[in-house]
Amino acid sequence: MSLGDVGVFHRFARAYDRLMYAADPETLRVGLTLAEGPVETLLDVGGGTGRASRALDVPRPVVVDAARGMLREARGHGLATVQGDAARLPVADESVDAVLVVDALHHMGDVDGVIAAAERAVRPGGVLVIREFDPTTLRGRGLVAAEHLVGFDSQFYAAEALRDRVAAGGFDASVPDRGFGYTVAGVKPS
Ligand SMILES: C[S@@+](CC[C@H](N)C(=O)[O-])C[C@H]1O[C@@H](n2cnc3c(N)ncnc32)[C@H](O)[C@@H]1O
Repeated sequence: MSLGDVGVFHRFARAYDRLMYAADPETLRVGLTLAEGPVETLLDVGGGTGRASRALDVPRPVVVDAARGMLREARGHGLATVQGDAARLPVADESVDAVLVVDALHHMGDVDGVIAAAERAVRPGGVLVIREFDPTTLRGRGLVAAEHLVGFDSQFYAAEALRDRVAAGGFDASVPDRGFGYTVAGVKPS
């Protein structure tokens, strides 16, 4: 993991919700609806203050994040939290319906490790949903420059490249939403 990026989020956790726009539930559901069967248990990985979990009506979301400050804010919103690394999810095998990673993968150094951890945690027919930003778009190029300017150690992936890595991790992968912000979804074969 990028300890530098996590440290920044820990320090600026109190300001995060004031600076961020609300998550769009429809955009998140586009990926989650690909799961076979209902999504009742969800790990919001790199979930920070729980911005994505709060936008959804999933019965049992758990926010997993490496930054203690962000988890404190998530608990303040009434969410269950677990501190941990996205590449070593602290849950039993095949125990959740969905893993969601929103606007966070580019801060996680070990992308294949994150995908492998999600594949272990998700039940057959469950889904991994990743929301990311496409660095090949005009706005994406601006975001890459801005994140590096403020000192983040971010690594961005084009939609197809990330889809191929999710497929290599054992999921039936697709890109159900494209653009500057895009979604890659992977359904675990049952
Ligand atoms: C830009 S925030 C996004 C938070 C939330 N998903 C949202 O959409 O508002 C990125 C989050 O990823 C977390 N993070 C970065 N690397 C991580 C890792 N390896 N394991 C767990 N969390 C990580 C950071 O602490 C931070 O809270």
